[in-house]
Order: sequence, then C-alpha cells, then structure tokens
Amino acid sequence: MKALVLSGGAGTRLRPLTHTSAKQLVPVANKPVLFYGLEAIADAGIKQVGIIVGSTADEIMEAVGDGSAFGIEVTYIPQEAPLGLAHAVLIAQDFLGDDDFVMYLGDNFIVGGITDLVDGFRADRPDAQILLTKVSDPKAFGVAELGPDGRVTGLEEKPEHPKSDLALVGVYLFTPAVHEAVRSIEPSRRGELEITHALQWLIDNGRDVRSTTISGYWKDTGNVTDMLEVNRSVLETSEQRIDGSVDESSEIIGRVTIEEGACVVGSRIVGPAVIGAGTVVTSSYVGPFTSISRNCVISDSEIEFSIVLDDSSLNGVRRVEASIIGRNVVVTPAPRMPAAHRFVLGDHSKVQISS
Ligand code: G1P
Repeated sequence: MKALVLSGGAGTRLRPLTHTSAKQLVPVANKPVLFYGLEAIADAGIKQVGIIVGSTADEIMEAVGDGSAFGIEVTYIPQEAPLGLAHAVLIAQDFLGDDDFVMYLGDNFIVGGITDLVDGFRADRPDAQILLTKVSDPKAFGVAELGPDGRVTGLEEKPEHPKSDLALVGVYLFTPAVHEAVRSIEPSRRGELEITHALQWLIDNGRDVRSTTISGYWKDTGNVTDMLEVNRSVLETSEQRIDGSVDESSEIIGRVTIEEGACVVGSRIVGPAVIGAGTVVTSSYVGPFTSISRNCVISDSEIEFSIVLDDSSLNGVRRVEASIIGRNVVVTPAPRMPAAHRFVLGDHSKVQISS
C-alpha cells in the first residue's frame, strides 16, 4: 500500500501567509500541519509516499526532504497547476502502479490518525472507501448521499443545495480501479478534475464505494479560524516541558512548553502554550492556546489564542487575540499623538482594530 499526499494548491483562504509560504507548512503547536499527516501515514505502516507539489515545491521539499525523518520514502510529483484532486491521481499513475493507496490532503488534520482505517481497508478491499463527517456548512465541501444500507449513492462537490450534512474528509482509500475513473471524467465547472466525480463514476459503474462516518475531530485547515482551532486542540493534548530558561520573577502555569534556547523573563505564561527555540519573552503575558515559533521577541505585550510564526516581534502591544502573525512581522504601538493606526499591510491582509 502506498500514500499520495497532496501539497499543491494555492491556499487562497490563508492569504497573505500563503503569498510567501505553503499552507501545509503553517505550524500547529510549532509543527507544520503536513507533518502530522506524514506521521499518521508512517504510523499506519505505509513507507512509499508520493507528494504532489505545485508552486511551493521548493519549500515543501526543503521541509520534508527524503522522508527519512518520518520513516518514509518520499517521491515528489510536480503538478503544473492546481487542476484537481483527480488530476493529482492521474499524474501519479507511474508512482502508484497497481498498488492500493491512501490519498491524504496535506492541509487536513485528523486526530487519532488513520491506522484503523487503513487496516480495515486492507482487510475488506472495496474499490474505494471515503471518510465522512457531519458538518454545519456542507456547501463548503464534497457532500455524500447514503442509501438506507449505508452505501454511498451519490456525491457532489460543493453543492448549492446539499443533499446531506455529510462532508468528505480529505482522506480517501483506493484500489487501482480509480485509475480508469480519473481517465474517464471531464473537468468540472471550476475547471478541475474532481475526485468526487471519479468516485461518482465508480458508483455509476457498479463498483463498491464504501464510507466510514467519523465523529472524532477533523479540520480542513484552509482558513484562519480552523487553523486557530486546530492549534488549540493540539495544545490541549500537550504536557508541561521546560527546556529553555525561565527567570524567578516569571510565572508558568499549566501545560506550557518552553523549547530549548527560549528565554522567559518577568513574564506570565498560562498554558496550554508553546514558546519556540530562540524566542525571548520579556515583561509579557502569553495566554492559553498560543503558539510562538522560533526566534521571536515578545516584550511588554499580551497575546493569547494566537499563532506567531518565526522571526517576528511584538513590542508594547496589548492585547493581541485570535490572530495569526506571519514571519518577520514587526508589531509596535503607534505614537500617542495623534491617536491613529499606522499600517504596512501585505496584499490580502485582514486587520480588525478595537477602536
Ligand atoms: C477538497 C475536496 C472536498 C473535501 C475537502 C476536504 O476541497 O474537493 O470534496 O470535502 O477537500 O478538506 P478543497 O479543500 O480542495 O476545496
């Protein structure tokens, strides 16, 4: 069994972060979201992993390397444009050969991994198996319709009028039967070869497409709200670990990780939270559900329920909340007079001000 991981995609809903960086590499509790998926694949006993890469190929390749750090062997498969999930299967045919495979969307986050799912598929080998979960906004996803016996009878991609509230989770299991399907379908209205259409093709051709409905935790981390929520839930599972330095006047409360080389001075950190290597926190408050990456400077500031990427600084700012701050960002107060906001905002930035 092989794995096909999709890490192309433009990540438009996470702009401006994705102008300069791949969405799959945005960190959750200081680890790229893609790494959680690769670990889940390795845990399921899969070694050969194809990663579909697009315009952010260099960055993904630098982060993942040959896969040995995860105990997997990675083959990179370039996709010239984001032409759809079924297109990714089409261009991966040489890599996939006649093997069964799991297709995993690199921005999806599944708590509990995929081992049980993969084991079940290995035992039963239906032509395809999909994962479903109930969502409140099915229009934003692929949506499945099930027959009375639980079999999948129909699938629609981001339907105007969803026929159920069961969304397709970004993990799919296939036998080689899918190859004929992806060769047989036409691009959708949005110009993509949709995997939902390939699955529908299998159903229409009498193939066995099964589904498992999961009630556990799943998020497509394509937008800021979901990213913060996944960060929150991963931090919830962390334990206190203090490898960096904390001075006597600081207070560390609860499940806080201070990575080696991080330094906390005269500050209060309330977990769950993580402070990355090389980051210096001085005279500040870092509140729950906050991940500060490497080499940041937080001084005279307050921040909570947020993600800060590498090499950024907050100086004299209170209070920052529900925010994602990119790399090399500098946040400082404006001069007192006149009381005005001063911005240098990149394309597609989103700012909410409290006055
Ligand atoms: C893709 C699939 C969709 C699925 C979703 C899960 O959508 O096309 O069927 O429900 O992933 O994350 P995308 O995130 O590419 O818009």
